[in-house]
Amino acid sequence: MNINGKHHHTIWVNSKNKNCIDVIDQRYLPHKIDIYKIQNTDDAAYAIKEMVVRGAPLIGVTAAYGMYLACIEACEKSCKLSYIKDVATKLYNTRPTAVNLKWAIDEMSKLIEENSNNKLLPELALAKAEEIKLQDIDVCFNIGKHGLEIIRQLAAKKNNKTVNILTHCNAGWLATVDWGTATSPIYQAHQVGIDIHVWVDETRPRNQGASLTAFELNQQGVKHTLINDNTGGHLMQHGMVDLVIVGTDRTTRNGDVANKIGTYLKALAAFDNNIPFYVALPSSTLDLTIEDGVKNIPIETRDENEVKYVQGLEKKEIKSVLICPETTPALNYGFDVTPARLITGLITERGICEASEAGIKSLFPDLF
Ligand code: MRU
Repeated sequence: MNINGKHHHTIWVNSKNKNCIDVIDQRYLPHKIDIYKIQNTDDAAYAIKEMVVRGAPLIGVTAAYGMYLACIEACEKSCKLSYIKDVATKLYNTRPTAVNLKWAIDEMSKLIEENSNNKLLPELALAKAEEIKLQDIDVCFNIGKHGLEIIRQLAAKKNNKTVNILTHCNAGWLATVDWGTATSPIYQAHQVGIDIHVWVDETRPRNQGASLTAFELNQQGVKHTLINDNTGGHLMQHGMVDLVIVGTDRTTRNGDVANKIGTYLKALAAFDNNIPFYVALPSSTLDLTIEDGVKNIPIETRDENEVKYVQGLEKKEIKSVLICPETTPALNYGFDVTPARLITGLITERGICEASEAGIKSLFPDLF
């Protein structure tokens, strides 16, 4: 998608040095557009852990390039495969909830194991990481194509009056390589001229809604309004939301969905108000080894300072300010789980299905 009218991806191989991966540094958006250079596997792990890059699909793609860098590093050392395995573990441990990370590392590991004695291993790994990147673009585009039909139908039902869509966190193109998951139907609806407006949850504590979703919608010219995280229920009670679309970091076999903390409360409010609540996901986010998401999805706990401090712009300088007594402890769960019964449907690259084992199987029989 575009930044200042120019098309960008979130991640790419540096044009002058193919041993360096460039990413948009998301820590300072929307105030500063910076590029972070991933030059080794420690940088890759840091970028994922510290949320230079974030969002389940982009974490996966970044880890894929991290595995490519592991191949370069391994070729400089004698202990090839064991070194790469250690890097895989290091990358895997960066963020526990998003399962795309494991998916991408496993895809890369398969290729690496099959070619461990091949002198061209780094080149092969680079080609595989590029393939995973391109696949993400394609998958997100297709999620949008299917999700567009939901928005089209709602617009028709409203006699082409504005369709109001609420989203939580950032499941936009910045969470992927391009298009986004939850935002892909939104961008495609905008492109075909459907009148849409997006309610953007600010998404405390890191405010990915305010700093990232609002930024990217603004850049694409999509009408939107920022709301604090507590406003959605009120809007729904007053007929101001037609549809909720969110992303996911892990979706279980029975259709339970882990997503940014606060998603569950939005799903409850949508359910109570009879508002369709859809989850957009690439199949790399499915974890068919788990059934009950509430019991079994590992939920990341992050630094308490993300809750205690808020980052913003003051006099053109990005600053972080304390918003509570310094000694007050804070608890910071990154995600919560929305049970399948609250979800109207899953929007995937192969179509839309019920959030249930039967629904997922109907689109992805090959994964069972
Ligand atoms: O902690 P983050 O910012 O990496 O959270 C990920 C998310 O943005 C969401 O949970 C998202 O909706 C799923 S990723 C498309």
